[in-house]
Amino acid sequence: MTTYTIQIPDADHVAEAAARFAELMGSATIFAFRGEMGVGKTTFICELCRRLGVTDDVAGSPSFSIVNVYDTPRGHLYHFDLYRLESAEEALDIGVEDYLYSQDICLIEWPDRIDALLPDDTAQVSIVENPDGSRTLTLAMP
Ligand SMILES: Nc1ncnc2c1ncn2[C@@H]1O[C@H](COP(=O)(O)OP(=O)(O)OP(=O)(O)O)[C@@H](O)[C@H]1O
Ligand SMILES: [Mg+2]
Repeated sequence: MTTYTIQIPDADHVAEAAARFAELMGSATIFAFRGEMGVGKTTFICELCRRLGVTDDVAGSPSFSIVNVYDTPRGHLYHFDLYRLESAEEALDIGVEDYLYSQDICLIEWPDRIDALLPDDTAQVSIVENPDGSRTLTLAMP
């Protein structure tokens, strides 16, 4: 397990932070983003999507479903927001395992809903807000 820390001074530096993150992703495909409500998970993931070459409009959080599907030069990319999910069973009904084992990149907000379903080699990401309003992102690579 290797842990990296990325400081994000303000909202204007999210793209730069996402570029650094993209360099660290290696061959991992599943990234569990944890952090308090409003800390900047969606903002960061949208910048990361752009960095990874998503050409579609990056929509923000999935509003009518729990997953946004994007195309990138290396395949599909899935952005999950599991906040509204009631149970892991509901995730199974949606076919979450098909996504998780697709070898495509999965960026997951509120992954605690499906912790029991996440493979051991899931990369763990946390974002915390510091007293000065900056954010500290920590990436623990499997
Ligand atoms: N690095 C940052 N520094 C300062 N402000 C930020 C940063 N990232 C995001 N924000 C601001 O924080 C607000 C919430 O961001 P965002 O929706 O990305 O949070 P979230 O963690 O996805 O929230 P939720 O838990 O509801 O999904 C937005 O107004 C955004 O502009
Ligand atoms: Mg969000």
